[in-house]
Amino acid sequence: MSRSTMKLPKKSIDEVLAPFSRRAASVIPILQAIQAEYGYLSEDAVKRTALHACVPESAVFGAATFYSQFRLVPPGEHLVRVCQGTACHVLGGADVLDSLCEELEIDEGGTTADGLFTLESVRCLGCCSLAPAVMIDGETYGRVTRAALPGILGRYRRGDVS
Ligand code: FES
Repeated sequence: MSRSTMKLPKKSIDEVLAPFSRRAASVIPILQAIQAEYGYLSEDAVKRTALHACVPESAVFGAATFYSQFRLVPPGEHLVRVCQGTACHVLGGADVLDSLCEELEIDEGGTTADGLFTLESVRCLGCCSLAPAVMIDGETYGRVTRAALPGILGRYRRGDVS
C-alpha cells in the first residue's frame, strides 16, 4: 500500500495548458490533465480548453459530457474507486459496490451529503491479485469484504487519513 500524506499546491490552468498544442486533438488530453489536477472540470476550465485548442466551447462541453471519465462537479474529499474488472467481479466486486452504496447512502457516481466521499467504479485498479479491490485516494485495500467496509471508511470519517 502506498499513500501520500502531503498535498502539493495545484498548478494554475495556464501551467496545465502550456504543454499542449493548440489544436482540436488536444482537447481530450487537456481535459484529462485538468481533471487530474483539480479533480473535475469547471465551466471555466471548459472555456479555457476551447480557447487553447481553438475549438468551440460546445465541442469541449460535448466531449466532457460524452465520456464518463469526466466529472463536471467537484468530487468529495475522498475518492472511493471500487473495481468492477473481471478478477474483482468474479470474487465479489459487485457485492462490494452494492455495500459501498448502502454504507455511503449514495449511488455509483454520487457524492455523500457531507461532501466526504465520492464513489466511482473502475474497470481495473491494476492490482488484480488483491481482488476484490477498492482504492481510496491513493491507498489500495485488497480482498475487501462487506464486513470490512465500515472499518475502512471509518478511518476517513474519523480523519485518521487526511
Ligand atoms: S480487476 Fe480489479 S484490480 Fe484488476
